[in-house]
Amino acid sequence: MKALVIGAQGQLGRALQATAPMDAETIAPAESACNLTNGAHIERWLAEVRPDVLFNAAAYTAVDAAESDVATAELVNSVSVGRLAESARLHGARLVHVSTDFVFDGETNSPYAPDDKPNPLSVYGRTKREGELAALHASSETLIVRTAWVYAEQGKNFVQTMLRLMRERDEVKVVSDQIGTPTYARNLALALWSLAGQSATGVYHFTDAGVASWYDFAQAIQEEALAVGLLQRACAIVPIATKDFPTPAIRPRFSVLDKSKAWATLGCPGPHWRQALRAMLGRMTPNG
Ligand SMILES: NC(=O)c1ccc[n+]([C@@H]2O[C@H](COP(=O)([O-])OP(=O)(O)OC[C@H]3O[C@@H](n4cnc5c(N)ncnc54)[C@H](OP(=O)(O)O)[C@@H]3O)[C@@H](O)[C@H]2O)c1
Repeated sequence: MKALVIGAQGQLGRALQATAPMDAETIAPAESACNLTNGAHIERWLAEVRPDVLFNAAAYTAVDAAESDVATAELVNSVSVGRLAESARLHGARLVHVSTDFVFDGETNSPYAPDDKPNPLSVYGRTKREGELAALHASSETLIVRTAWVYAEQGKNFVQTMLRLMRERDEVKVVSDQIGTPTYARNLALALWSLAGQSATGVYHFTDAGVASWYDFAQAIQEEALAVGLLQRACAIVPIATKDFPTPAIRPRFSVLDKSKAWATLGCPGPHWRQALRAMLGRMTPNG
């Protein structure tokens, strides 16, 4: 399989490169040479590489900034994704596009299935939903994989933020009334390679297994990081309510995704999020 990766320097873009199957040829240009919003860039790379699969790991992911930078979020997450899907179709490449749990409003207590009705609460969620629709409209070959709470060894993510704050402070306050599932970028990348290899199309959900609040996640980060020596001392972790930590973008209260369709296609359930967190922190240690 020949694959072109857009958004190569993000968490998922790096993970896709790190987990590429032995028989895959992966081309992952830098953002400066392959900007999602630049139609000429996309055309040139598709014509040159002639990929079987086009992974779009690029997105405007600054959820709060999107509330005041609506035009850029729309351009990157919606308009350009539609154009990308159309270009992919014309060049005979299957688009694998990644979306988000933020397309849902969180007003439920049971995991969201891929065909449940989206109702985004934020600009980020709305623009990602519009990107999904544009990509699905452009080609019946499109694969959309929604995921959530992604973290990795590098990049801006909750784990890296917590590790920094836990080193700097005696106490961190963390929201305890938003429920979802942390997802190690590497596991998501492995799932994307497998689903792409099986020519899956339509909408799938993939996160690691299990359920957590951000507070639970922070507790686990501290315990696991202390165990492997990434933290030297414990700090107090204080649960707070969402209303006490106002943000520009409204987040879904409950955004656990039902992964049964993906797990059936992959042939096994993904690892539990805590096991995945332990593996990732292990890789961050000097001997990892
Ligand atoms: N992170 C999460 O918790 C999460 C949750 C649910 C879904 N997702 C989805 O998962 C996918 C991967 O996210 P991620 O966590 O890997 O995000 P990420 O680390 O922020 O990576 C996104 C990458 O896209 C790049 N990018 C932004 N605009 C671009 C453009 N116009 N052209 C080319 N590249 C561009 C970014 O570059 P700059 O850094 O230079 O902007 C960054 O390298 C995205 O579709 C995201 O919506 C993420």
